[in-house]
Amino acid sequence: MPKSLLITNIKILTGIDETGRRKVSGAEMKILQSIENAFLHIHEGKIFSYGKMEECPSLECDTYDASGRFVMPCWVDSHTHLVYAESREKEFVDRINGLSYVQIAERGGGILNSAKRLQQTSEDELFQTALIRLKEIVAGGTGDLEIKSGYGLTVNDELKMLRVIKRLQDENIIPIKSTFLGAHAIPKEYSDRKKYVDLLIYEMLPKIAEEKLAVFIDVFCDKGFFTVEETERILMAGKEYGLIPKIHANELDFSGGIQVGIKCNALSVDHLEFTGEEEINLLKNSETMPTLLPSTAFFLGLKYPPARKMIDAGLPVALASDYNPGSSPSGNMCLVLSLACIKMKMLPEEAINAATLNGAYALGMEKTHGSISKGKMGSVIITKKIPSLAFLPYSFGNSLVEEVIVEGGKMRNRKDT
Ligand code: NIG
Ligand code: FE
Repeated sequence: MPKSLLITNIKILTGIDETGRRKVSGAEMKILQSIENAFLHIHEGKIFSYGKMEECPSLECDTYDASGRFVMPCWVDSHTHLVYAESREKEFVDRINGLSYVQIAERGGGILNSAKRLQQTSEDELFQTALIRLKEIVAGGTGDLEIKSGYGLTVNDELKMLRVIKRLQDENIIPIKSTFLGAHAIPKEYSDRKKYVDLLIYEMLPKIAEEKLAVFIDVFCDKGFFTVEETERILMAGKEYGLIPKIHANELDFSGGIQVGIKCNALSVDHLEFTGEEEINLLKNSETMPTLLPSTAFFLGLKYPPARKMIDAGLPVALASDYNPGSSPSGNMCLVLSLACIKMKMLPEEAINAATLNGAYALGMEKTHGSISKGKMGSVIITKKIPSLAFLPYSFGNSLVEEVIVEGGKMRNRKDT
């Protein structure tokens, strides 16, 4: 890591925050503190100082001239299933031909299909393919990441997935947090669902805790998957082992997932396509981050979560990619921001707050990541030359990230333009 990096002539440095707040909620979400014609000095991986170019120190160190470019915190993608064995474009075509996501799952496709493939794939192969995906999303601006298990669904295969995540963490490309999602689907061979939940609680959890393979525990609490009662039992068991709940809720129905997530003090409840007044009011009285995954709603043709209502009610929201082979085969956070603006009527500033500080909160990383703050890690995106901040989500599908700096080093995508 270079000792110091000085980014100069920044058209606009944005996402600044010195209040120490842990998340951004409601009306504040549309405010992004910015400095025009700025510098940013990162020292030993951390943000040391920033300000107007007139105050820029003269330093003997690596410099980067960011004329015409915006600089902002890296995306914090707080919900992914990045480790998987195979893509599922056959199901994509089946859906074009009229089958629904649930119908495909009932015919042995979906999560169980991914589990079958993963069980047949070696740890090494899983690692190599996930590493390629990881490098791609980092080049797109993601500087912090969460990855879930959940395509193993046997003791050995869940452990295999979590060990792959551990190896990705050990590559030290970006910080990665690991989530145990053994409760992703009930394998076909369990006619007695309780037996699978018992396996998860009594056999998987102790081993995961012993090897310290996860910090979060997740359950797919939805129609056709895990019930509210099963979810509570699993989350409580996970908590006994020190795992923090963070769940899939209300993607397919008003599942009670938001309620049980809040009851179990989940750090986040994710998806939320089915969210009404009752859920919004409960979220308002909680510390749980509502996390929205618009690329999943886009890809599956679902209705979108009511982001506007949530923010107008004073809630924070986070945005994440849900990168997985079945419902969101993309970890492109710039596209997630575009969809948030186009389909959920979030303002560009709201989308950026949601994908940075609020994403960091959803990973328990808000003290060190998610904003331009002195002492936080120096993980930033340098855009290409763009006319305004709104241009970023407006210019959907185009790659406008020129450079990604992770903790002061590891420059990526460098092109001389
Ligand atoms: O977050 N909703 C549950 N799990 C994933 C989809 C998994 C799959 O289809 O493989 C999701 O959308
Ligand atoms: Fe997911």
